[in-house]
Amino acid sequence: MNIAVRYCSRGGNTKALAEAIAKGVGVQAVSVDAADAKISEPVDVLFIGGALYAYGLDKRLKAYLETLDKEVVKKGVVFSTSWISKHSVDLIKSGLRSKGIPVEEEYCYAKSKPNGDQLKAAEEFAKKYI
Ligand SMILES: Cc1cc2nc3c(=O)[nH]c(=O)nc-3n(C[C@H](O)[C@H](O)[C@H](O)COP(=O)(O)O)c2cc1C
Repeated sequence: MNIAVRYCSRGGNTKALAEAIAKGVGVQAVSVDAADAKISEPVDVLFIGGALYAYGLDKRLKAYLETLDKEVVKKGVVFSTSWISKHSVDLIKSGLRSKGIPVEEEYCYAKSKPNGDQLKAAEEFAKKYI
């Protein structure tokens, strides 16, 4: 099973969730800004996450979603943080679907900064996909 974790985080909340997910599946969480963010080897599961900013996604995450290829990414699993609205989950799912990538309905979410229990839950959530 090939698994990758990619995230976009301005303040660190979504990064923390990404790192817990990555720990659960035994890979590194990579920011969409990083030089090695591109998925070049096929992956069975791509965990992809970002937060909600003014009811939208960060433009770097939107641009990254555009680069994804359904021949390389078999399935997307979404994670997100926000203050109140879970619209970010829907937006990321839509971004994946618009590229023809199947999306897992279930997602991982934390309200703003994830606490220890939420990080543990994210780790366990991710393990289901190994
Ligand atoms: C500029 C800005 C706009 C935001 N807009 C929203 C919003 O429209 N709805 C919401 O629920 N949370 C909103 N938030 C809260 C963030 O989604 C939340 O703090 C999130 O955990 C930030 O993730 P990050 O630390 O990974 O950047 C906003 C935060 C910032 C800084």
